[in-house]
Amino acid sequence: MWQEGLVLPADRAALFGGPGATVWLTGLPGAGKSTVARLVERALVTAGRPAFLLDGDNLRHGLNRDLGFSAEDRAENVRRAGEAALLLAEAGLVALAALVSPGAAAREAVGARHREAGVPFLEVHVATPLATCRERDPKGLYRRAAAGTLVGLTGVDDPYEPPRAPALVLEPSRTPTPESAAAAVLALLGERGLVRVAEGLAARHDPPRPT
Ligand SMILES: Nc1ncnc2c1ncn2[C@@H]1O[C@H](COP(=O)(O)OP(=O)(O)OP(=O)(O)O)[C@@H](O)[C@H]1O
Ligand SMILES: [Mg+2]
Repeated sequence: MWQEGLVLPADRAALFGGPGATVWLTGLPGAGKSTVARLVERALVTAGRPAFLLDGDNLRHGLNRDLGFSAEDRAENVRRAGEAALLLAEAGLVALAALVSPGAAAREAVGARHREAGVPFLEVHVATPLATCRERDPKGLYRRAAAGTLVGLTGVDDPYEPPRAPALVLEPSRTPTPESAAAAVLALLGERGLVRVAEGLAARHDPPRPT
């Protein structure tokens, strides 16, 4: 039987500066999900709004360490990340998820779990074109796929299904820098009443590094 707690969502929202929610960034490898999510996480935490990033790469070191890259394992990877995000959001945080999450059905199932729980779920499509991802290739995955040493790379020889109804689409033509993309995510959270748009909620620029 479901065990009801004594703390109301409104009590948590008062404590955390807004209701818990999940922002789910999906897109091709190298699209910029981790980069944007890190900036959003820092902007929120710096402004006093608890947030936590679930990065697909990091989850594969622990919670999802037993999973590979078959279609079934990718779906299970997304399901578990979705459950973890939901727990964080129910606890009152802004959960940020940065996972390729190539399957539309698996992502929609995560959205459905959030709806059942009455927790906002914002799907953000980091819609960087494949050619740009390939040029950036921050982890050398596209290079390895081209060399034939990596099989089953999403966007190359594994499918990517874009979101059917994303809350936000980030395209490099409109948000060319990571900071501008993060600002668009923060604006979305503000519009939905999930964060108080206080001063200091802009994605901060890093100070120049000493040379
Ligand atoms: N507008 C932009 N938004 C995000 N990243 C950008 C943008 N413009 C350039 N970049 C660069 O693109 C790269 C994106 O890499 P990142 O690791 O964030 O991708 P990812 O989507 O998390 O990939 P993966 O699925 O492999 O983890 C970074 O080097 C980042 O600096
Ligand atoms: Mg990443």
